[in-house]
Amino acid sequence: MAGQWSSAQRNGAARSASRNARPFCVAENDGVVCGFAFGGKILWTGLSTSSEVSSLYLLEAIKRRGVGRALFGRLLAELARRGFTSTGLWVLTGNLPARRFYEAMGGRTGDTRIERKDEVVLDEIAYLWDDLAAAGPSRG
Ligand SMILES: CC(C)(COP(=O)(O)OP(=O)(O)OC[C@H]1O[C@@H](n2cnc3c(N)ncnc32)[C@H](O)[C@@H]1OP(=O)(O)O)[C@@H](O)C(=O)NCCC(=O)NCCS
Repeated sequence: MAGQWSSAQRNGAARSASRNARPFCVAENDGVVCGFAFGGKILWTGLSTSSEVSSLYLLEAIKRRGVGRALFGRLLAELARRGFTSTGLWVLTGNLPARRFYEAMGGRTGDTRIERKDEVVLDEIAYLWDDLAAAGPSRG
C-alpha cells in the first residue's frame, strides 16, 4: 500500500539510524579509563570503505598486554553490528608499532598520502579491512 514501508525499507532505515551514531569503546584498568577507540561513518578519513576507525589510543603503561587487540576487536564488531561492511584508517608511515599492530589485526595496506597541516607534513599510509563480518574480536 502507498505510504507504507516494506520490511526491507524499515530494516534499511534502522541500519541507517544505527550507522549515524558513532561507537566509542573504552578500556578500563582498576576503574580508570586507560584506552579508547572510536569510529563510524566516514567523516575525516575520506576512505572508500563504508566506515572509518577515527582513533585508537592506549596509555603507555598498558601496552602489549592484549588490551589493544580486545578494544579494536570490540570496535570492529560494533561497526559490523551497525551495518558497516568494511573499515579503514590512516596511520603515520613511521608509526611502526601501530603498523605492526594493524597488520596483526588483519589489516591490509592501502594508499599513502602526504597531508600538510600548516608547517607540519604528515606522511601516512592507509590500513583497510574489506570484510568486517570476518574481522571479529577473535581474529588477529
Ligand atoms: C597500537 C596500540 C593500540 C596497540 O595496542 P596494544 O594493546 O599494545 O597491542 P596488543 O598487546 O593487543 O598487541 C596485539 C598484537 O599487535 C602486534 N603489536 C602490538 N604492539 C606492537 C609493537 N610495539 N611492535 C610490534 N608488534 C606489535 C603484536 O603482533 C601483538 O601480538 P603479541 O603481543 O601476541 O605479539 C597501542 O600501541 C597504542 O595505543 N599506541 C599509541 C597510539 C597509536 O599509535 N595509535 C594508532 C594511531 S593510528
